[in-house]
Amino acid sequence: MILPIDLKEKSYNIILERGAIRAVGAQVNRANRRVCVVTDDGVPAQYAQAVLSQLQGDPLLFTFAQGEQSKTFDTYLALQKTLLDAGFTRGDAVVAVGGGVVGDLAGFAAATYMRGIDFYNVPTTLLSQLDSSIGGKTAVDLGGYKNMIGAFWQPRAVFVDPDTLLTLPRRQAAAGLAEAVKMAVTSDAALFSIFEQQSVLPLRECDAEEPTVADIADEQTMDVLETVIARALAVKRDVVEQDEREAGLRRVLNFGHTLGHAVETCAGLSALSHGECVAIGMLPMCDGTVRARVRAVLQRLGLPTEIPAALEPLALKEAMTHDKKATGATIRVVLSEEIGSFSFADMSTEQLLARAYATLGEGN
Ligand SMILES: NC(=O)c1ccc[n+]([C@@H]2O[C@H](COP(=O)([O-])OP(=O)(O)OC[C@H]3O[C@@H](n4cnc5c(N)ncnc54)[C@H](O)[C@@H]3O)[C@@H](O)[C@H]2O)c1
Repeated sequence: MILPIDLKEKSYNIILERGAIRAVGAQVNRANRRVCVVTDDGVPAQYAQAVLSQLQGDPLLFTFAQGEQSKTFDTYLALQKTLLDAGFTRGDAVVAVGGGVVGDLAGFAAATYMRGIDFYNVPTTLLSQLDSSIGGKTAVDLGGYKNMIGAFWQPRAVFVDPDTLLTLPRRQAAAGLAEAVKMAVTSDAALFSIFEQQSVLPLRECDAEEPTVADIADEQTMDVLETVIARALAVKRDVVEQDEREAGLRRVLNFGHTLGHAVETCAGLSALSHGECVAIGMLPMCDGTVRARVRAVLQRLGLPTEIPAALEPLALKEAMTHDKKATGATIRVVLSEEIGSFSFADMSTEQLLARAYATLGEGN
């Protein structure tokens, strides 16, 4: 399917289907155009190769070390230097093949090389397919703070190929789905029903120590995943089209993120992933029966639903105070009293913490 994103002269299409990666060349190739494919060394090399094999001329491949620690100005500069040394000009293009780290970094490089060249994105993680590849936010981290230097730069096209998810560790895929649950709770009751009624990412027994999506998925799973990605993208599209630069409505996408970020900061990046922390952070933002339903969905996906016992409430409070959504004494948060709808509220960190700890142990 094709999902058009309407941003006036910055409009573009998301091509979502199994095998979409094979459609990149037809859209990117232009007469005399140079193209640089950017990936990291944790993305199975077959995906960048699949793209390179479709490109005309003399395409470049830029590969950096996987992980958030590479989303830096140094990697960005190395990429810019590669483009410069290869003589890239305004008509040339960058194609990201990888997760959100690759997309954010390659997108920022494209946004700024010669004041901006064409950018195409082939997201290969669930988080990047249903969330970070749409919306035009690009960035690198600075001084230990995330996304400090960046730009809004819309891609020319996004190619979402669910088959690239087959190599993804199941745990990481589930963490990506936390963002889809977030969009379902606040904005799409029908998507929430899919999570309640269908096996989106089954917790099947298998021999692999660290199962991948391929180890646990069948054809039906892949079809359900495609539907979930499509609906989550549609929710984000509707928000982004109305609020491209996060002036107001786009803040709904922060549902679960205030407490989630605080848990992420305190738990250390290695222990719980971003998506897992968002899962934990959503629950206290839901009212009673909504919370019970959300918890059941998260548990079916194998996502955590409790603040780790070792976390000090004081440390959480401190982390929340540094949240970028904090304005003076209060933080703007998103609440859900009914599946598929949301409201904004201003809360003090004390109120937020009280909410968080009041819901502890409810699911036992
Ligand atoms: N721009 C936005 O709007 C936006 C939104 C949300 C998150 N983000 C950013 O996204 C980043 C996180 O993205 P992520 O969760 O995709 O992490 P990631 O890009 O670090 O990818 C996670 C890991 O999976 C590997 N990988 C990628 N594709 C794979 C595949 N198909 N099979 C196996 N392994 C694969 C990568 O090498 C990496 O080691 C963060 O930097 C975050 O700030 C951006």
